Amino acid sequence: MILVTGGTGYIGSHTVAELLGAGREVVILDNLCNSRADVVERITAITGEQPQFAQGDIRDAALLDHLFARHKFEAVIHFAGLKAVGESVEKPLEYYDNNVHGSMTLFGAMQRHAVKRLVFSSSATVYGDPATLPLREDAPLHATNPYGRTKLMIEQMLEDIARADPAWRIATLRYFNPIGAHASGRIGEAPNGTPNNLLPYIAQVAAGKLKQLSIFGDDYPTPDGTGIRDYIHVVDLALGHLKALNHLAAHSGLHVYNLGTGQGYSVLEILRAFERASGKTIPFQIVPRRPGDIASCYADASKAARELGWQAQCGLGEMCGDAWRWQCNDGFIRY
Ligand code: NAD
Ligand code: UFG
Repeated sequence: MILVTGGTGYIGSHTVAELLGAGREVVILDNLCNSRADVVERITAITGEQPQFAQGDIRDAALLDHLFARHKFEAVIHFAGLKAVGESVEKPLEYYDNNVHGSMTLFGAMQRHAVKRLVFSSSATVYGDPATLPLREDAPLHATNPYGRTKLMIEQMLEDIARADPAWRIATLRYFNPIGAHASGRIGEAPNGTPNNLLPYIAQVAAGKLKQLSIFGDDYPTPDGTGIRDYIHVVDLALGHLKALNHLAAHSGLHVYNLGTGQGYSVLEILRAFERASGKTIPFQIVPRRPGDIASCYADASKAARELGWQAQCGLGEMCGDAWRWQCNDGFIRY
């Protein structure tokens, strides 16, 4: 039995679907602050297996004690947290409370109940503005906003926990830019209000819900002047969690992995790929750079390939096609 915090969210729901598909049993803990309860039925429809669902908060120690007493968890996959960079600048305390205090509360319950196997959702944002590319796991870490600092603090907390007690087995996964949706079109990303991230924004322009894409800067030192990122299909990312769990079954200690494709694409390349996948023209304008953005960021994902036997499989066409199917079916709409 695996406890998945944040399991009705974007990456969590795809991971739960893969876990169930692989015959694992799952309990989801989610307070639904950024997802919907019907995701549980959607996962069940996709997999034919029903995850258990507890609506609640990772900061609720009594609830955690109840869950850990009731189920014999083999491991925890910890997705729950807030993730909007801009919001974290405006509401830092909410981010420290939800992400840092929430994670501390969860790790405390794990310790009390002797469940010491953990896969943690970190982010490429912990690398800040990279000095060299591609990014290896041993690159210098430097968060540039409160959200990034919460991830860095949790990573450091986990290092201390692993150092203090060798019984802990921890995989810290640094995600690059997850996009796309489940091929069934039943689950995907559902951002609140106007999307901040590129793919949901483009998808809504293609669907006619937003007028045009604003490209934040075409004067970066990149071949076409627009920002370059390492976009990874969310199902590939989900499968990385299963590989990490398998690795922890055989290896002790703390392990850090980049989960990306290793391939960077510019904003204009993404826009063209989405036009091809959707058959729509996507109007755009060039506007000034977004404060805090970096020129380029992509992974050296060779450590995950070597140690986990994991490699992203989906190309950009599939990522855009699946995002478009989700958008046409249901996607990105808040009920
Ligand atoms: P998401 O918002 O879709 O999912 C997070 C889930 O956690 C939501 O369902 C939300 O309701 C739940 N949640 C939040 N706070 C909670 C709390 N205190 N108690 C219980 N549940 C709570 O986000 P996502 O994109 O699926 O991201 C999952 C994790 O991956 C996050 O930790 C995020 O920081 C990290 N991450 C995401 C990205 C990305 O681009 N999506 C990139 C790097 C890292
Ligand atoms: N972009 C635009 N217009 C938009 C939105 C984005 O031009 O409307 C550009 C950005 O300038 C950037 C690229 O598209 O060059 C990607 O931007 P996103 O906002 O989609 O993603 P970021 O790389 O800025 O950040 C994301 C998450 C962070 C996470 C980081 C690394 O939002 O939380 O990936 O994982 F830390």
